Amino acid sequence: MATFAPRLLDWHRHSGRHDLPWQNTRDPYRIWLSEIMLQQTQVDTVIPYYARFLAAFPDLAALAAAPMEAVMALWSGLGYYARARNLHACARTIMAEHGGRFPATAAEIATLPGIGRSTAAAIAAFSQGERAAILDGNVKRVLCRVFGIEGFPGSLPVEKQLWALAESLLPAARIGDYIQAQMDLGATVCVRGTPRCAACPLSDDCVAQRTGRERELPAARPR
Ligand code: ADE
Repeated sequence: MATFAPRLLDWHRHSGRHDLPWQNTRDPYRIWLSEIMLQQTQVDTVIPYYARFLAAFPDLAALAAAPMEAVMALWSGLGYYARARNLHACARTIMAEHGGRFPATAAEIATLPGIGRSTAAAIAAFSQGERAAILDGNVKRVLCRVFGIEGFPGSLPVEKQLWALAESLLPAARIGDYIQAQMDLGATVCVRGTPRCAACPLSDDCVAQRTGRERELPAARPR
Protein backbone atom coordinates (compact mmCIF):
# COMPACT_ATOMS: atom_id res chain seq x y z
CA MET A 1 0.00 0.00 0.00
CA ALA A 2 1.86 3.05 -1.31
CA THR A 3 -0.05 5.49 0.90
CA PHE A 4 0.62 3.71 4.21
CA ALA A 5 3.43 6.03 5.39
CA PRO A 6 1.97 9.30 4.02
CA ARG A 7 -1.36 8.64 5.69
CA LEU A 8 0.32 7.84 9.01
CA LEU A 9 2.45 10.96 8.77
CA ASP A 10 -0.57 13.10 8.02
CA TRP A 11 -2.42 11.57 10.98
CA HIS A 12 0.59 12.20 13.21
CA ARG A 13 0.62 15.88 12.27
CA HIS A 14 -2.83 16.53 13.73
CA SER A 15 -3.48 13.61 16.11
CA GLY A 16 -0.07 12.64 17.48
CA ARG A 17 1.59 13.86 20.69
CA HIS A 18 4.37 16.35 20.06
CA ASP A 19 5.28 17.70 23.47
CA LEU A 20 6.41 14.73 25.55
CA PRO A 21 9.62 15.27 27.55
CA TRP A 22 11.66 12.92 25.32
CA GLN A 23 10.48 14.47 22.07
CA ASN A 24 12.15 17.43 20.40
CA THR A 25 15.58 16.16 21.35
CA ARG A 26 18.17 14.23 19.35
CA ASP A 27 20.22 13.32 22.44
CA PRO A 28 20.52 9.53 22.17
CA TYR A 29 20.92 9.23 25.96
CA ARG A 30 17.55 10.86 26.61
CA ILE A 31 15.87 8.95 23.79
CA TRP A 32 17.33 5.63 24.94
CA LEU A 33 16.21 6.21 28.54
CA SER A 34 12.66 7.03 27.39
CA GLU A 35 12.43 4.00 25.12
CA ILE A 36 13.53 1.65 27.89
CA MET A 37 11.08 3.18 30.39
CA LEU A 38 8.27 3.06 27.81
CA GLN A 39 8.83 -0.60 26.90
CA GLN A 40 6.37 -1.96 29.45
CA THR A 41 5.00 1.20 31.03
CA GLN A 42 2.41 3.79 29.99
CA VAL A 43 3.41 7.30 29.00
CA ASP A 44 1.68 9.02 31.95
CA THR A 45 3.43 6.77 34.46
CA VAL A 46 6.83 7.25 32.87
CA ILE A 47 6.84 11.08 32.82
CA PRO A 48 7.69 11.77 36.51
CA TYR A 49 10.19 8.88 36.70
CA TYR A 50 11.90 10.17 33.59
CA ALA A 51 12.25 13.66 35.04
CA ARG A 52 13.68 12.40 38.35
CA PHE A 53 16.06 10.02 36.61
CA LEU A 54 17.46 12.72 34.32
CA ALA A 55 17.83 15.15 37.22
CA ALA A 56 19.96 12.57 39.07
CA PHE A 57 21.82 11.23 36.01
CA PRO A 58 21.92 13.93 33.33
CA ASP A 59 24.20 12.00 31.00
CA LEU A 60 25.75 8.66 30.24
CA ALA A 61 28.86 9.31 32.32
CA ALA A 62 26.79 10.17 35.40
CA LEU A 63 24.71 7.00 35.02
CA ALA A 64 27.75 4.78 34.45
CA ALA A 65 29.46 6.20 37.56
CA ALA A 66 26.43 5.70 39.81
CA PRO A 67 26.14 2.68 42.10
CA MET A 68 23.48 0.17 41.05
CA GLU A 69 21.49 0.86 44.26
CA ALA A 70 21.10 4.53 43.32
CA VAL A 71 19.76 3.53 39.91
CA MET A 72 17.36 1.02 41.45
CA ALA A 73 16.10 3.58 43.95
CA LEU A 74 15.03 5.85 41.08
CA TRP A 75 13.48 2.93 39.19
CA SER A 76 11.57 1.71 42.23
CA GLY A 77 7.85 1.54 41.37
CA LEU A 78 8.29 1.31 37.59
CA GLY A 79 8.60 -2.48 37.62
CA TYR A 80 10.41 -4.86 35.25
CA TYR A 81 13.66 -4.23 37.12
CA ALA A 82 15.80 -6.09 34.59
CA ARG A 83 15.37 -2.91 32.54
CA ALA A 84 17.23 -0.89 35.17
CA ARG A 85 20.02 -3.46 35.48
CA ASN A 86 20.45 -3.54 31.69
CA LEU A 87 20.38 0.26 31.53
CA HIS A 88 23.22 0.48 34.00
CA ALA A 89 25.15 -2.28 32.21
CA CYS A 90 24.66 -0.45 28.88
CA ALA A 91 25.98 2.80 30.32
CA ARG A 92 29.12 1.06 31.58
CA THR A 93 29.60 -0.81 28.28
CA ILE A 94 29.33 2.41 26.29
CA MET A 95 31.87 4.13 28.56
CA ALA A 96 34.27 1.17 28.39
CA GLU A 97 33.86 0.05 24.77
CA HIS A 98 32.53 3.02 22.80
CA GLY A 99 34.58 5.84 24.30
CA GLY A 100 31.54 7.20 26.13
CA ARG A 101 29.69 8.02 22.90
CA PHE A 102 26.33 6.42 22.35
CA PRO A 103 26.61 4.16 19.27
CA ALA A 104 25.08 5.80 16.20
CA THR A 105 23.59 2.96 14.16
CA ALA A 106 20.72 0.61 14.90
CA ALA A 107 22.99 -2.38 14.20
CA GLU A 108 25.52 -1.25 16.84
CA ILE A 109 22.85 -0.23 19.35
CA ALA A 110 21.28 -3.69 19.07
CA THR A 111 24.48 -5.27 20.42
CA LEU A 112 24.06 -3.51 23.80
CA PRO A 113 22.70 -5.44 26.80
CA GLY A 114 18.91 -5.78 26.79
CA ILE A 115 18.31 -3.78 23.61
CA GLY A 116 16.49 -5.68 20.89
CA ARG A 117 16.21 -4.92 17.20
CA SER A 118 13.05 -2.84 17.48
CA THR A 119 14.20 -0.65 20.38
CA ALA A 120 17.57 -0.15 18.68
CA ALA A 121 15.79 0.97 15.52
CA ALA A 122 13.59 3.42 17.44
CA ILE A 123 16.63 4.98 19.15
CA ALA A 124 18.53 5.29 15.84
CA ALA A 125 15.48 6.71 14.05
CA PHE A 126 14.73 9.31 16.73
CA SER A 127 18.34 10.34 17.38
CA GLN A 128 19.93 10.00 13.92
CA GLY A 129 17.03 9.85 11.49
CA GLU A 130 18.19 6.38 10.44
CA ARG A 131 15.71 4.61 8.15
CA ALA A 132 15.24 1.60 10.41
CA ALA A 133 11.98 -0.28 10.88
CA ILE A 134 10.48 -1.01 14.28
CA LEU A 135 8.31 -4.00 15.15
CA ASP A 136 6.93 -3.94 18.68
CA GLY A 137 3.63 -5.43 19.83
CA ASN A 138 1.65 -2.38 18.72
CA VAL A 139 3.15 -2.31 15.25
CA LYS A 140 2.64 -6.06 14.81
CA ARG A 141 -1.05 -5.61 15.60
CA VAL A 142 -1.44 -2.75 13.10
CA LEU A 143 0.33 -4.66 10.30
CA CYS A 144 -1.53 -7.93 10.91
CA ARG A 145 -4.87 -6.14 10.74
CA VAL A 146 -4.19 -3.76 7.84
CA PHE A 147 -2.58 -6.42 5.65
CA GLY A 148 -4.64 -9.38 6.89
CA ILE A 149 -1.59 -11.33 8.00
CA GLU A 150 -2.50 -14.76 9.35
CA GLY A 151 -0.68 -16.73 12.03
CA PHE A 152 0.65 -15.86 15.47
CA PRO A 153 2.89 -12.78 15.09
CA GLY A 154 5.30 -14.11 17.74
CA SER A 155 6.14 -17.17 15.62
CA LEU A 156 9.39 -17.05 13.67
CA PRO A 157 7.96 -17.23 10.11
CA VAL A 158 5.26 -14.61 10.75
CA GLU A 159 7.75 -12.35 12.51
CA LYS A 160 10.09 -12.64 9.54
CA GLN A 161 7.27 -11.69 7.19
CA LEU A 162 6.34 -8.73 9.40
CA TRP A 163 9.92 -7.41 9.52
CA ALA A 164 10.12 -7.53 5.72
CA LEU A 165 6.79 -5.75 5.43
CA ALA A 166 7.81 -3.11 8.00
CA GLU A 167 11.04 -2.47 6.05
CA SER A 168 9.15 -2.13 2.77
CA LEU A 169 6.78 0.49 4.21
CA LEU A 170 9.45 2.93 5.49
CA PRO A 171 9.13 6.46 4.11
CA ALA A 172 12.12 8.28 2.58
CA ALA A 173 11.97 11.15 5.07
CA ARG A 174 10.45 12.15 8.44
CA ILE A 175 11.41 8.78 9.83
CA GLY A 176 11.16 9.83 13.49
CA ASP A 177 7.62 11.14 13.03
CA TYR A 178 6.70 7.97 11.18
CA ILE A 179 7.99 5.69 13.95
CA GLN A 180 6.20 7.78 16.57
CA ALA A 181 2.99 7.70 14.49
CA GLN A 182 3.08 3.90 14.35
CA MET A 183 3.55 3.66 18.11
CA ASP A 184 0.77 6.18 18.77
CA LEU A 185 -1.69 4.57 16.36
CA GLY A 186 -1.19 1.16 17.97
CA ALA A 187 -1.48 2.60 21.48
CA THR A 188 -4.52 4.83 20.95
CA VAL A 189 -6.52 3.69 17.87
CA CYS A 190 -5.60 0.19 16.70
CA VAL A 191 -5.89 -1.13 20.24
CA ARG A 192 -6.31 -4.74 21.35
CA GLY A 193 -9.89 -5.99 21.52
CA THR A 194 -12.14 -3.47 19.79
CA PRO A 195 -10.13 -0.91 17.81
CA ARG A 196 -11.37 2.64 17.11
CA CYS A 197 -11.53 2.23 13.32
CA ALA A 198 -13.55 5.42 12.81
CA ALA A 199 -10.47 7.39 13.95
CA CYS A 200 -7.97 5.39 11.86
CA PRO A 201 -6.27 6.87 8.77
CA LEU A 202 -5.77 3.36 7.35
CA SER A 203 -9.26 1.93 7.80
CA ASP A 204 -10.25 2.38 4.10
CA ASP A 205 -7.63 -0.15 3.12
CA CYS A 206 -7.60 -2.36 6.20
CA VAL A 207 -8.23 -6.05 5.50
CA ALA A 208 -9.42 -6.73 9.06
CA GLN A 209 -11.89 -3.85 8.94
CA ARG A 210 -13.18 -4.80 5.47
CA THR A 211 -13.75 -8.43 6.48
CA GLY A 212 -15.00 -7.72 10.02
CA ARG A 213 -12.05 -9.55 11.57
CA GLU A 214 -10.65 -6.76 13.77
CA ARG A 215 -11.14 -8.93 16.82
CA GLU A 216 -9.55 -12.03 15.25
CA LEU A 217 -6.36 -10.41 13.99
CA PRO A 218 -3.64 -10.70 15.02
CA ALA A 219 -4.05 -14.41 15.74
CA ALA A 220 -3.65 -15.51 19.36
CA ARG A 221 -0.71 -17.63 20.50
CA PRO A 222 -1.51 -21.24 19.56
CA ARG A 223 -2.07 -23.55 22.53
N1 ADE B 1 6.49 3.02 23.63
C1 ADE B 1 7.76 2.79 23.29
N2 ADE B 1 8.31 3.90 22.77
C2 ADE B 1 7.37 4.85 22.78
C3 ADE B 1 7.32 6.21 22.39
N3 ADE B 1 8.40 6.79 21.84
N4 ADE B 1 6.18 6.87 22.53
C4 ADE B 1 5.11 6.26 23.06
N5 ADE B 1 5.08 5.00 23.46
C5 ADE B 1 6.20 4.29 23.33
